[in-house]
Amino acid sequence: MSPTANLQTVTLGPNGLVVPALGIGTWAWGDSLFWDYGKTYSDDEIQAAFNAFLDAGLTLFDTAEIYGFGKSERLIGRFMQQRPQQAVVATKYFPFPWRFSRQSVVDTLTASLDRLQVASVALYQVHFPLDFLLSQKDLMQALAAEVRRGRIGAVGVSNYSAQQMRDAHRYLAEEGIPLASNQVHYSLINRKAETSGVIAAARDLGVTILAYSPLSQGLLTGKYTPETDLKPTGARWLDPRFSQSGLTKLMPVIGALKEIGEKRDRTPAQVALNWLVCQGNVLPIPGAKNARQAAQNAGALGWELTPDEKAQLTQITESYC
Ligand SMILES: NC(=O)c1ccc[n+]([C@@H]2O[C@H](COP(=O)([O-])OP(=O)(O)OC[C@H]3O[C@@H](n4cnc5c(N)ncnc54)[C@H](OP(=O)(O)O)[C@@H]3O)[C@@H](O)[C@H]2O)c1
Repeated sequence: MSPTANLQTVTLGPNGLVVPALGIGTWAWGDSLFWDYGKTYSDDEIQAAFNAFLDAGLTLFDTAEIYGFGKSERLIGRFMQQRPQQAVVATKYFPFPWRFSRQSVVDTLTASLDRLQVASVALYQVHFPLDFLLSQKDLMQALAAEVRRGRIGAVGVSNYSAQQMRDAHRYLAEEGIPLASNQVHYSLINRKAETSGVIAAARDLGVTILAYSPLSQGLLTGKYTPETDLKPTGARWLDPRFSQSGLTKLMPVIGALKEIGEKRDRTPAQVALNWLVCQGNVLPIPGAKNARQAAQNAGALGWELTPDEKAQLTQITESYC
């Protein structure tokens, strides 16, 4: 049996491409504004993460034109040259106010494909639901045209509310194209996507959820505690959840992740990611800066929490969300 035979999978939208139910987020690859690219980790470590992820049998890389102002796409393009035809790329279009015509979709996609050194991407997502002069309807029509042209495998959105997702779905349906995905903030300790109705609407429409910041930017790994001196790098030091009191409040959650993880020989990060996979129709995209993190996160697939363990985690995090 192949080592990937037991990995959970999801489809990118109705009848879409089947991929393992965990991707890798690459915002930190080339970004020194929020993350610490070039200071605490380098291109060599990122390439090792890229290879470790593929070696584990996983395939989906989530990037965006704005990550590192194109650097993330460029790095992935470079790494893919050495491992052709294995990676599945999802990138994003940013609806800046000066992008007021359908031609801007054509030009922006062309620039992403050039940086990635590919002829097409599996998934092209609208990064935010921003409406300026280019209406959502026109935007969706321009994206549908790119699907027909073969430069996009599927259309996705990101940070869309339930209603915005329904609208995008309708505009695309008028073009005969399904809406494949909505990428939203979703983790054990950020469940707004559940309470806002996004998860339920996605299920109803057959739209796959890509869960971003699924480790709450490192918090759910359990390595940041009130006792240790380990401080988060980059802009996270401004985030009150990483302060002494924020971490103290989180400790019951980390305790539960550790307790379950120890019984199953899994890390807290793997348990937290598996909880998301267990929701069904959800594909977490944890960021990883090195091979160890990428391989560890890949180990969130191939097994499943019991209903009791899922319920315990859901309940203990309810007051935190
Ligand atoms: N669409 C959007 O608007 C949007 C917004 C945010 C993110 N995203 C996407 O979602 C992806 C993931 O989100 P994110 O990067 O914000 O947060 P995340 O995945 O929750 O956390 C990533 C960080 O956690 C730490 N980490 C990851 N795996 C680890 C492991 N196994 N052991 C120890 N530490 C580990 C690493 O930082 P340290 O080692 O420095 O702690 C890593 O950079 C992004 O890369 C991006 O692709 C999209």
